[in-house]
Amino acid sequence: MGQKIALITGANAGLGFEESKHLAEAGYRVIMACRDIDKGLKAKKEILASCQKAVIDVLELDLSSQKSVRLFADLVKQDYHRLDLLINNAGIMMTPKKITEDGFENQLATNYLGHFALTGYLLHLLKITENSRVVSLSSLAHRWSDIRFSDINFVDGYDKREAYGQSKLACLMFAYELERRLKVSGYSTISVVAHPGISSTNLFKSTFLKWLSPIIGQPAKDGAKPILYAALSKGLDGGEYIGPDGFNEWRGNPKIVDSNLPSKNNQNAKRLWELSEELTGVKYQF
Ligand SMILES: NC(=O)c1ccc[n+]([C@@H]2O[C@H](COP(=O)([O-])OP(=O)(O)OC[C@H]3O[C@@H](n4cnc5c(N)ncnc54)[C@H](OP(=O)(O)O)[C@@H]3O)[C@@H](O)[C@H]2O)c1
Repeated sequence: MGQKIALITGANAGLGFEESKHLAEAGYRVIMACRDIDKGLKAKKEILASCQKAVIDVLELDLSSQKSVRLFADLVKQDYHRLDLLINNAGIMMTPKKITEDGFENQLATNYLGHFALTGYLLHLLKITENSRVVSLSSLAHRWSDIRFSDINFVDGYDKREAYGQSKLACLMFAYELERRLKVSGYSTISVVAHPGISSTNLFKSTFLKWLSPIIGQPAKDGAKPILYAALSKGLDGGEYIGPDGFNEWRGNPKIVDSNLPSKNNQNAKRLWELSEELTGVKYQF
């Protein structure tokens, strides 16, 4: 059996960096998918400084561009013959209104639609890898919005907080729906979703929470724990939501947590899936 492979998006900073470091130390070959190659190479160097045996490939990926996602996935499919772990980690939060080159609201495009397409493109590689896993990143903020089916790209009334909430609710519903579809397909791949609580990272840099996050949150190394638990714990069957066990799920050790009612609406999850296939042009082949 060859070396296990983990692919992490947004791997150069914050939680993604800690996840990459941990998995490299655990013996995975790590593909660090970064939108800025220089930042990615710097992060790789930092990991190698403390773990000489680390095997790391840095590849360029801009999740806000469907073209970039497609080119990236083509490279991965060409150069790798297994994929044990896909961690859909990258994200932006509460950014000013921006419409991407594909016509999508930027937080939805980066946090959700980019990962939806990426996972679809890499599904075959995941399926042929025994016991592979897809880990999606949600947030306590999944409660901040419903899915706005009538105007998912916020053509009207952009609200940066609501748009972040919608994108993170979409990641959660996607993870649950992916698990349902994988179960039916009979493959051993599972889908798990996690949130880090509040973790002091660059994510907050342009938000009103930037002063608060170091006080109430936990360092990135601890914030990464629920995500790593979702990625590595042997006791998970798929479909679990993992978060910190402390007050309000802000910090603490990983445990299975609950999500809100709208996230468990299977009809809406199916509707969101179909809309996502239509918007991205990526049709999943189970
Ligand atoms: N920190 C928290 O408290 C918290 C809470 C709930 C959920 N989360 C989730 O955790 C995940 C990681 O966030 P973090 O806290 O580690 O934030 P972070 O430190 O800001 O890291 C985000 C990573 O995503 C990358 N990224 C941003 N836009 C991208 C794009 N278009 N294409 C590819 N990569 C892109 C960033 O690259 P650059 O360095 O080039 O910008 C960076 O590597 C996100 O999904 C976030 O929603 C975080």
